[in-house]
Amino acid sequence: MKTTNISSMVKGLVLVGAMLASSSAMANADLFKKCAGCHGQHAQKHAMGKSKVINTFTSAEIVTALKGYKAGTYGGAMKGIMQGQASRLSDKDIESLSKYIPTLK
Ligand code: HEC
Repeated sequence: MKTTNISSMVKGLVLVGAMLASSSAMANADLFKKCAGCHGQHAQKHAMGKSKVINTFTSAEIVTALKGYKAGTYGGAMKGIMQGQASRLSDKDIESLSKYIPTLK
């Protein structure tokens, strides 16, 4: 009896875990919607013909780029565009996007 209870509890926890994981995946997809217009649905485009293809970036490179745009210390000729985008992102958004974008390729 005891073991059945524990195993059903474990199943319950696994289910909750899966639900949390999928809701955070949805939040990330939502966050990335704003970016997809320029970077492509799978982050596979050279945004406005200029950016690097960011689905090839590592999470660390994405964090460096986004924090750098925010601080005005990163970027090329069109960094003003990304500065506007990045300034609206929290550190937590940047963290989530940096994990999500490399999964898109
Ligand atoms: C209006 C178009 C546009 C939107 C929307 C946009 N970007 Fe960009 N992004 C660009 C351009 C253009 C560049 C290249 C800028 C430069 O010259 O440094 C760039 C560069 C980047 C880079 C660095 C790539 C490199 O070339 O070093 C990252 C990372 C990035 N964007 C992520 C994002 C994320 C995440 C979002 C959504 C929150 C986003 N972008 C939204 C146009 C856009």
